Amino acid sequence: MSAQTSPVAGAFRTAVVPAAGLGTRFLPTTKAVPKELLPVVDTPGIELVAAEAAEAGAQRLLVVASPGKESVAGYFRNDDELEQTLEDRGKHALLAKVRRAPGLLAVDSVYQHDPRGLGHAVAQAGPALADDEQAVAVLLPDDLVLGPDGTDAGVLGRMAQVHAELGGSVLCAFDVPRDQVPAYGVFEVSDTADEDVKQVHGMVEKPAPEDAPSTLAAAGRYLLDRAIFDALERITPGAGGELQLTDAVALLISEGHPVHVVVHRGDRHDLGNPGGFARAFVDFALRDPEYGEGLRRWLTDRLKD
Ligand code: G1P
Repeated sequence: MSAQTSPVAGAFRTAVVPAAGLGTRFLPTTKAVPKELLPVVDTPGIELVAAEAAEAGAQRLLVVASPGKESVAGYFRNDDELEQTLEDRGKHALLAKVRRAPGLLAVDSVYQHDPRGLGHAVAQAGPALADDEQAVAVLLPDDLVLGPDGTDAGVLGRMAQVHAELGGSVLCAFDVPRDQVPAYGVFEVSDTADEDVKQVHGMVEKPAPEDAPSTLAAAGRYLLDRAIFDALERITPGAGGELQLTDAVALLISEGHPVHVVVHRGDRHDLGNPGGFARAFVDFALRDPEYGEGLRRWLTDRLKD
C-alpha cells in the first residue's frame, strides 16, 4: 500500500453500502440473485467494494438491504463445511478465495422497507452507528472506482486523508462529458492549493446539462460527517420524487458545513446496468492471470469480423 492510500486511523469505522434496490435492470436474473452478488469474473461486485472499504480503514460493513436480500450480508459469513472440503482436497488457492470476504471486515445489515431513494436508504444506517462515530463512509456498490493500474484506486483512503486535514465531509468527483451530467449528482466547486481537492459550494442531483454548475459528477464514494443523518431527516423528495443524499449534502453546505471533493483521475465502472457490467467484466477478465490472455486473443479475432 502506498503512503497515499494508507488508512487514516480513526477517520471512520463503518462503511454503509446501500443494497436495497430491486435490480430491475438485471431482471429476470435478480428474481433469484441480488445484483450485488453478480460476479465480476469470479468475485461479486460487493466484495470488491468491501475490499476497498477495508483497505481505507473500515472495520464494519453495514449493508442496507430490503427484505429478501439477506444473501448479500450472508455472502460474508464463513462456510465451514465448504472450507473443510477445500482444505481436505488441498485446494488452497480456492480456500483463500472463499475466506477472503469473511476476513475483510465485520458485516451487519439494516433494512429499508420502502424504496424512497438513496437518502432514505442511507438514513436507515444512522441508528446503527455507535455514539462516538463522528463520520461514516458510504459506498454505492454500482460504482467501481479504479486506479490507474485498474484494480485499486485507494480513493476512499485519499478521501480519509483529506477528511483528517480539512474536517467536514469529503466526496469523490470525476469529470464527465456535459451531456452525461443528468445521470449524476453534480458539484459547484472552487480550487484549493491541491489541484485534486476542490471546495464544494453546492451540489445538485441530476441537473439538465445547461443548468449544471460544472461537469464534476459524484462517484459513489462519500465520507460524511454524522451531521448528514440530521440533514436527511430535514430534506423533502427531490429528483425523481426520491429522498436524495445529494440534497442532504447540499443542505449541510448551505448551513456552512465544510464539504470537499477528491477529483478522481482513474477509471470507473458502472455495475448498475448490463452494459456497464459487461465492460467491467471484460476489463477485469482481460487482467486476469488465468483468463486474460485467451480472452484477449478471442476478442481481437472477434472484433475483426
Ligand atoms: C446516485 C447518486 C448520484 C451519483 C451516482 C453515482 O445516483 O444519487 O448523485 O452521482 O449515484 O453513481 P443513481 O446512479 O443511483 O441514479
